[in-house]
Amino acid sequence: MRVKILMAGFGHVGQGFAELLLQKRTFLSSAFGLDVRVVGIVTGHRGAIVDPNGLRLDRVLKSVREGNGFEQSGYSVSQMSAPDLIKRLDFDVLTELTITDLKNPQPATEHIRSALQKGRSVITANKGPIALHLKELEALAKENDAVLKYEGTVLSGTPLINLIQMHLAGAEILEIQGIVNGSTNYILTRMEEGLEYDDAVAEAKELGYLEADPTADVEGWDAVAKAMILARAVFGTEVGLEQVERKGISTLRRADIQTAKEENKVWKLIARAQKDGEILHVSVRPEKLKDSHPLAAVKGAMNAVTVYTDCLGAVTITGPGAGGRETGFAVLNDLISIFR
Ligand code: HSE
Repeated sequence: MRVKILMAGFGHVGQGFAELLLQKRTFLSSAFGLDVRVVGIVTGHRGAIVDPNGLRLDRVLKSVREGNGFEQSGYSVSQMSAPDLIKRLDFDVLTELTITDLKNPQPATEHIRSALQKGRSVITANKGPIALHLKELEALAKENDAVLKYEGTVLSGTPLINLIQMHLAGAEILEIQGIVNGSTNYILTRMEEGLEYDDAVAEAKELGYLEADPTADVEGWDAVAKAMILARAVFGTEVGLEQVERKGISTLRRADIQTAKEENKVWKLIARAQKDGEILHVSVRPEKLKDSHPLAAVKGAMNAVTVYTDCLGAVTITGPGAGGRETGFAVLNDLISIFR
């Protein structure tokens, strides 16, 4: 089966996905009978390239990675916009991987709406539109007989959302607790190892773990967006930004971390969604966990979520929570699950 993809956004995640499509071309065909072709890529800064027969991703990646944008890819670069291409191009799936904005997630939300209204499926790793508009977008997908997938928004390629929605479908989820932000967990881990807060932040920045605006991470906003997505995806409850209790890690000092250590405890930035009858309490705040807690052993930039169920007790999944290739893997898996 031929699957035609239009990509909006070609940053780290878009490139990670394209690289996986190249590497797994034969596997996708032999294991799932999928002949995946990227028929268009549209970006905010590099312009757009199109080939209805499928772009040569090796050439495109080489050109971009050598710093030439799409200019050396062998395709003519146009200034067509994403809305134009979504309207005019013949494609089956839109991947929405443009820059995320949690306050005003545009134009990403509009891209998703337009593709769904056209009856085309959408895969996104973009947190803003899903955190703020998931209910509306799901309804739109249903109305137009299309599919909306967003595994990469939380825990990157580590399959948390599909795990809960598919493989824990028969269980009642009572509570979820998670470390859903890698950079803050890295900072806290380095503080446990003796670094001062500012030095640990500087190190996380140098390693590229922090968002362009580090307050998104250290003040908990990124984790809040992920908690909102989980509230809707897991509990079916739409939670507004103002309903999430939020506290970041910026007030924690090395002395707090060391005191906890002496008590056999660790500080973690925990995102939590907990059912209390009909009410869902959602919070993001530093919590002091006992060493024996399943999330206490999660170190560095790793992410993990513990799901408390009625049938299995606690189920914990640990894995990478960021990275171009890791998030590109979520997009690839969502694609396979749509056409399987
Ligand atoms: N800044 C985020 C983190 C990236 O540290 O987890 C992944 O969403």
